[in-house]
Amino acid sequence: MTEENQNEGLTEDEKALLSEILSEDSSNLSEFGESRRNFLKQLTMAGGGILAFELFGGQELLASPATQPFTESIENAVTLSFKVNGAKKSLSLDSRMTLLDTLREKLQLTGSKKGCDHGQCGACTVMVDGKRVLSCLTLAASCTDKSVTTIEGLAKDGELHPMQTAFLKHDGFQCGYCTPGQICSAVALLSEAKNGEASYVTANVQTSKGAVSLSEEEIRERMSGNICRCGAYPNIVDAIREVHTGKGVAQNWQFVDDNQASNTSDLPKNDNK
Ligand code: FES
Ligand code: FES
Repeated sequence: MTEENQNEGLTEDEKALLSEILSEDSSNLSEFGESRRNFLKQLTMAGGGILAFELFGGQELLASPATQPFTESIENAVTLSFKVNGAKKSLSLDSRMTLLDTLREKLQLTGSKKGCDHGQCGACTVMVDGKRVLSCLTLAASCTDKSVTTIEGLAKDGELHPMQTAFLKHDGFQCGYCTPGQICSAVALLSEAKNGEASYVTANVQTSKGAVSLSEEEIRERMSGNICRCGAYPNIVDAIREVHTGKGVAQNWQFVDDNQASNTSDLPKNDNK
């Protein structure tokens, strides 16, 4: 198809737009960089941009490989040496990078989740030197020479951490997005209670000594920074109580057995027609 044929059917405005774009030096459009950005900007700003984009073979232009090899340049670079799940790591990174992004993007430890990225949901909770922190609000550079534990570091020798086992037993998750943060928070919470650290609901803060016993109220208060949009809270509390006390807490759910599954008369009837 000739250029003339391609232009047939265009309005005067579209023709003017197209000739304006073609008048630019387009010989370097296949390169990434300023000219590509200008080109895209022109197409986006114009009302007839999509049509011109198609005529110009824009898809192929965008798909062209970069002629320059990609080299990462790090602004404000710092070198970070720390331990992650027991392994020594040394990284060069931007001093403004958060611990969460460092774990997920530099170390491919994607168990810690990014929920709000504003310190409000707890999905990103990890432990630094045994204390729980919100990794989205923690600068990686501040963890120099410290030890970070993420959800990936809790299981040992192929055995789940007791808190992970308890979450499974008590069905403490539904979609599971908040679960890594919930479990890290719960593990650190046990040490806090053991060390006698008070919470907002601890009675007699000044006189209490020794380990704090974790009532349901204490657990709920101490876990209140971890939001679960699926609402698995009662089961999470049961899981934490079980690990804290070392005594089995009754499971409040179970799978149907084969008998129940085959005997549908046991199931409640739905009379809504
Ligand atoms: S992602 Fe860190 S608190 Fe929500
Ligand atoms: S299990 Fe879905 S957000 Fe908690």
